[in-house]
Amino acid sequence: MAGMIPQSFIHELLARVDLVNVIEKRVNLKKAGRNYQARCPFHNEKTPSFSVNPDKQFYYCFGCGASGNAISFLMEYEGQEFVAAIEDLAASIGLPVPRDALAQTNQFDQNLFEVMQKVSQYYQQQLKQHPEGKTAVNYLKNRGLTGEIAKQYGIGYAPAGWQNLLTLSKEQEKFQKDLITTGMMIKNDNGKTYDRFRERIMFPIRNRRGQVIGFGGRIIDQGEPKYLNSPETPLFHKSNALYGIYEMRRQLRDINQIIVVEGYMDVVSLAQYGIYNCVATLGTATTEEHIQTLFRMCPTIVFCFDGDKAGRAAALKALNQALPLLKETREVRLMFLPEGEDPDTMVRNHGKDEFNHQVENSVTLFDYLIDYLTGQVDMNTFEGPAKLVHLAKPYLQAITDQILLMRFKQRLSELSSLPLQQLDKFVDEASPIHQKNTTEIQPPAAEQKPSARPDSANKHLFRRTIALLLQYPQSLPDGDYEWLENLEEAAANILNQLIKLITNNEKLTTAILVENWRDKEEEKGILKLANMDLHTEEQGVTKELTEIFSRLKKLQIIEQWDRLIEKSRLGYLSEEEKLQLKQLQVSMTNLSE
Ligand code: CTP
Ligand code: MN
Repeated sequence: MAGMIPQSFIHELLARVDLVNVIEKRVNLKKAGRNYQARCPFHNEKTPSFSVNPDKQFYYCFGCGASGNAISFLMEYEGQEFVAAIEDLAASIGLPVPRDALAQTNQFDQNLFEVMQKVSQYYQQQLKQHPEGKTAVNYLKNRGLTGEIAKQYGIGYAPAGWQNLLTLSKEQEKFQKDLITTGMMIKNDNGKTYDRFRERIMFPIRNRRGQVIGFGGRIIDQGEPKYLNSPETPLFHKSNALYGIYEMRRQLRDINQIIVVEGYMDVVSLAQYGIYNCVATLGTATTEEHIQTLFRMCPTIVFCFDGDKAGRAAALKALNQALPLLKETREVRLMFLPEGEDPDTMVRNHGKDEFNHQVENSVTLFDYLIDYLTGQVDMNTFEGPAKLVHLAKPYLQAITDQILLMRFKQRLSELSSLPLQQLDKFVDEASPIHQKNTTEIQPPAAEQKPSARPDSANKHLFRRTIALLLQYPQSLPDGDYEWLENLEEAAANILNQLIKLITNNEKLTTAILVENWRDKEEEKGILKLANMDLHTEEQGVTKELTEIFSRLKKLQIIEQWDRLIEKSRLGYLSEEEKLQLKQLQVSMTNLSE
């Protein structure tokens, strides 16, 4: 989708908008030296660690790591799609977006959002007006919901009938197509089309902006399936959708923790009792994307599970997803309800205070993990402690935060009476993750470069060069950089792209450069380098880069030399390569002088 809008337009847009302006409209910025500061809008904090750099046109939060340009900011802050963010930015400075690009991208989504909105309004109206709606209203009332809450959550009713939705538009053909795309109508094998949701109470699922992306439909009283959900569509992806996220954010300004429950009714019932900091996953296990989204909004996530076997299995799954994403500043807690209760029945039967009490009694993910592990072995036996360490190994390997890892190891060491060093050794040895890494890092013997610098030093050099160029693109020394293409390192490839971008464009900022890696595999790394503290002054950068490039050029010569020598040893050298080798010989001699 993003590919539809010409990159040149995006460059121009980013060159013209002022990030400070964009953010200032939404966040209270204070000038601090050359930069601006604020309390980070993407995580909860008391002292400001969010900083906006007007030269780079880039923001960065030291607390949560949120970072990016004006497009990223709108996407994160407003929950906008990429194209919508571009449109808003362009509109804010009166720059027309190339129309044909839009016709193929945003218009498509925008139109589908409108279709969903229309359908949602229709369902809400039917809840009040349709004769069958009465039964639905009574059902909801019986479950303790007021009209006010039902309205807040946009709850509606899909009446009986197979062709209701088509009556909502005059443009039959196009509307039907959109209804099928959004999953609201089904086309069967015979080509017949009909409404997916009939005789069901309808829960609209909204994105962070409040746009309806899908529905869950509950049968009244008994019947199968109890809930029917929208299928995967261009708007609705179960793996990242969270029910109630919009309503929660609308209700609460500061969110300290978010409770993740299982069902639609759980979220709505809790809201009915004034507990608004809740969202639900939609009939799927919690995914990494869910957790990332939630941590962007607050530092603590509480997963709420049923107290039964299924609940404990779900807890383990969530634990596995969360472990790699945990940091010292983030917390995941788990709470287990008494058997037979879910959050909805809990709050209705025992009240808000009791539910909150249960939340307070939740356990941290690490405490749970340790209990879980020790529960599986008999620590009083000779083998017990060893077995414990064995069981803990995959979890140890999943933790990425060094401090948390250290603390977890310490705890295991205490429990198993195994000295930390031994534990480290055991975890490193024969660990599948580690083995994979070492084989990846080591090139096959034939490609070893004995005379080149050690790999890590080269890597550092490349990283520094890329970071310098990302942050000070105007400081690129004039010159010819074609020789870079001969370098084999993956980083050389990025460097090459970067230099091409810089030489082919004027008015470049960090914001524009980084944009070229949006949604690419390297994006994270690029962002890191764009924000890295380089401990340098702009005046010195060109000089440093000149020196680095001369080192890289030497490196390139050595690399090529090694490659050709190796080939000649094997007798593979072509005539052209023989000539090349001769020329290189001269360069090599110059190098050593
Ligand atoms: N679910 C689903 N399809 C089903 C059953 C459940 O998608 N056939 C999902 C729904 O998102 C539902 C959640 O799983 O909200 C939890 O299901 P369940 O515990 O069975 O329902 P409750 O939320 O307790 O619903 P209710 O209280 O209305 O019975
Ligand atoms: Mn329930």
